[in-house]
Amino acid sequence: MPALSSPSLFDPIQLGAIHSPNRILMAPLTRGRATRDAVPTELMVEYYTQRASAGVIISEATGISREGLGWPFAPGLWTDEQVEAWKPVTSSVHAAGGRIIAQMWHMGRQVHSSVIGGQPVSSSATATAGQAHTYDGKQDFEAARPLQIDEIPRLLNDYELATRNALAAGFDGVQIHGANGYLLDQFLRDNANFRDDIYGGSIENRVRLMREVVERVASVAGADRTSIRLSPNGESQGVDDSSPDKLFTMAARALDEIGIAFLELREPGPEGTFGRTDVPKLSPAIRQVFSGPLVVNSDYTTVEEAQAVIDAGTADAIAFGRTFLANPDLPERLRTGAELNPSDWKTWYSQGPEGYVDYPALARVAAE
Ligand SMILES: Cc1cc2nc3c(=O)[nH]c(=O)nc-3n(C[C@H](O)[C@H](O)[C@H](O)COP(=O)(O)O)c2cc1C
Repeated sequence: MPALSSPSLFDPIQLGAIHSPNRILMAPLTRGRATRDAVPTELMVEYYTQRASAGVIISEATGISREGLGWPFAPGLWTDEQVEAWKPVTSSVHAAGGRIIAQMWHMGRQVHSSVIGGQPVSSSATATAGQAHTYDGKQDFEAARPLQIDEIPRLLNDYELATRNALAAGFDGVQIHGANGYLLDQFLRDNANFRDDIYGGSIENRVRLMREVVERVASVAGADRTSIRLSPNGESQGVDDSSPDKLFTMAARALDEIGIAFLELREPGPEGTFGRTDVPKLSPAIRQVFSGPLVVNSDYTTVEEAQAVIDAGTADAIAFGRTFLANPDLPERLRTGAELNPSDWKTWYSQGPEGYVDYPALARVAAE
């Protein structure tokens, strides 16, 4: 039985300036349905509109610059053409009663030069083990070059431009992608950041770039329309840390000071089906230092699992990834206990409508 005081998954929540009618968020999901120039397509209008009953839709990761976007057919937010093509997505989601924020992505070293047209950048001269997705199939990751300290202002400007563009495109806010081993994570964690300047070494220094990016984005969007996603527990795409608890509680303190709209944590457990780790979840520790709304993700598929986290006081809302991908009307299905469509991984990143806009919604029964 939920404690009397604990809210239901179906209760509204205020996420900064964004009023979410329920606590069922759509997690960011890369789907590769934009053009080669990273311009959103008509198909994306339909896909996101189908999912407008989410408390908030967090968009697929969206490049802030060509340098930062290496995923084939992922969208961007650095050109006017991209902004124009996002407008029908956001206006259609709004017309359907929904809210959508843009997840802003710089992949750092997790890209291939054949996609970005230059050498990948990172905190330090490192390479990810394994292979990158490219337009010519998978290719070995290349060694990144460290961002020079005098390039940081330009990087912050790229985040600012993408934020301005997101607002111009009609997004209700933005989420900075600080998770999953991408650029900001490559600065945060000590198995990827070997810098000896003010962006490396101590935890305070490794948190600095994240803090500066969040501050810059918040100066444009307002802190109350700015969110960030972190993946604090365990290795992610080769990026890891020797003291994740100390690192991420300090990062969360910095975010608390800025007063962001919400913090989302991707926290797989030992039984995770999309990444798994034995490193304990850090959400309880982060909860102690971050006073804003906390959203958690990974492997939640039932009302009971999601409600248990809210009841325990560990989080305020849940982000659903694959379950939302395959169930466009997920809140309604969870509310009514309807069966869930399984997600087909073969069409996650494929081009075209199959496995994208053809997951069925519950049949509407005529009222009379
Ligand atoms: C197809 C696919 C694409 C994803 N793309 C993104 C992304 O663009 N940004 C991000 O932060 N996480 C991304 N993720 C991770 C998801 O947001 C989520 O953390 C993961 O699916 C685990 O949650 P789930 O168990 O609810 O699916 C992706 C996951 C999948 C399966």
